[in-house]
Amino acid sequence: MSGKLIVVSNRIPTAATPAGGLVYALHETLRKTGGIWVGSDPEFHASPSRSLTEIGDQSAYRRLAFGLTELDHQTFYLGFANSVLWPVCHRRGDLVRMSRRFEQGYRRVNKRLAQQIFEVAKVDDTIWVHDYHFFPLASELRKLGFEGKIGFFLHIPFPALGDLGALPLEASLARWLADYDLVGLQTRADVARCLEMFRSELGAELMNDGKIKYGDQTVGVRSFPIGIDVDTFVATAKRPMADAKLAADLSGDIVIGVDRLDYSKGLPNRFRAFGRYLETRTDKSRRASLLQIAPPTREEVTAYQDIRHELEELAGRLNGENAELDWTPLRYIHRNIDRNLLAKLYRIARVGLVTPFADGMNLVAKEYIAAQDPNDPGVLVLSRMAGAAEDMTQALLVNPYDIEEMSEALTQALNMPLQERQDRYEACMAQVKATDVGRWSENYLSALKDSRRKLSWDS
Ligand code: UDP
Ligand code: G6P
Repeated sequence: MSGKLIVVSNRIPTAATPAGGLVYALHETLRKTGGIWVGSDPEFHASPSRSLTEIGDQSAYRRLAFGLTELDHQTFYLGFANSVLWPVCHRRGDLVRMSRRFEQGYRRVNKRLAQQIFEVAKVDDTIWVHDYHFFPLASELRKLGFEGKIGFFLHIPFPALGDLGALPLEASLARWLADYDLVGLQTRADVARCLEMFRSELGAELMNDGKIKYGDQTVGVRSFPIGIDVDTFVATAKRPMADAKLAADLSGDIVIGVDRLDYSKGLPNRFRAFGRYLETRTDKSRRASLLQIAPPTREEVTAYQDIRHELEELAGRLNGENAELDWTPLRYIHRNIDRNLLAKLYRIARVGLVTPFADGMNLVAKEYIAAQDPNDPGVLVLSRMAGAAEDMTQALLVNPYDIEEMSEALTQALNMPLQERQDRYEACMAQVKATDVGRWSENYLSALKDSRRKLSWDS
């Protein structure tokens, strides 16, 4: 790459930011390449900031923040991004909340951010935009005259054509995405849906090399399944737990779930399936516990308040009906747990239970596999609807709507012979290694470097 790399995502690592999959992956990338990471300032501003400002540690790469007002937060982040685009992409059109103010806020923030980035970007720089908060960013940068490379990566599922109908007319994902050089998606199924949108909405031509042709432009559309930092994660999981009392408390058959408390993660059905497993188990002396870690997320949005209440009620009922004086079947923790401790919890758990209704990839599934002891591995029960299921076909794949099937998978997982556990673990681990996050960003950036947006350059 000739110029510098400028990564843009709404979240940026600061002391106040919980580390999610996206943040961790980009941190690893920028630590190697250097460059600039642009993200939103977690503190609100009384008036919109003119320029980007330095935020947090500047040692390995520059971190620059754009300011949001309280209104921007309400309309851009809670509104259009998380009450329109998120439910649409996760097939929950019923949860979409419409307001003209949301669209206006989304357009305003993207336009302002484009101006701020334009101030620091040179033509030989590469801009890599992440996630649904910034679909229109390339269009806004092109309007300002930026001719350099702009790539996009969507971390969440690409919506089906039918679901796109729930977006307001002015929000044309097809037009917005056509201004990027390369659109990266998680899975082959996402690519198929994206190509279908380009064909249907823009009449774009699909070319043999996986690009689309629209007017005199071409846009690359390819899948780059994201992964984790495998070696570091394996090493962390292997180290003994510092807290010996905690390690002793967690003995017995642990089933683990780790998810932001999001309605896309299928948590109520997971609790129901665990309850069904407890009811139907033949050996009543066997006491498995479900350890569910579900940190809060987007709490100001009503749909998230609703799912929290539903889950709390279910959790209370499940323990009330099944607990014994010396056994709590469900341990439900509504707090963020440090990822290094998570690695060790995954390792002691006999089953990793990952049952979203829709998920771009789901890194927890990959982390669970990476954390296992190859000599005595646990079993991953994985929803067919998670992006991770496209390649991790040797997990126990389940339908997250089918409580009976999930309960049977739990029985099968908890009784699986060692040889089968090892065979399944090895097949899944090969996939986890193949998508290591270092390779993910290298592959994406190298494809972006080779991309050509203007058709005339191809000859
Ligand atoms: N995570 C964490 N602490 C928690 C819960 C989750 O560090 O209490 C991390 C988890 O280890 C994973 C990421 O957050 O790296 C979640 O990524 P995933 O793709 O599974 O779901 P997302 O939250 O991006 O929808
Ligand atoms: C998913 C999205 C990310 C987002 C993260 C946490 O992983 O793909 O863009 O940052 O969830 O959500 P939050 O709204 O807290 O940033």
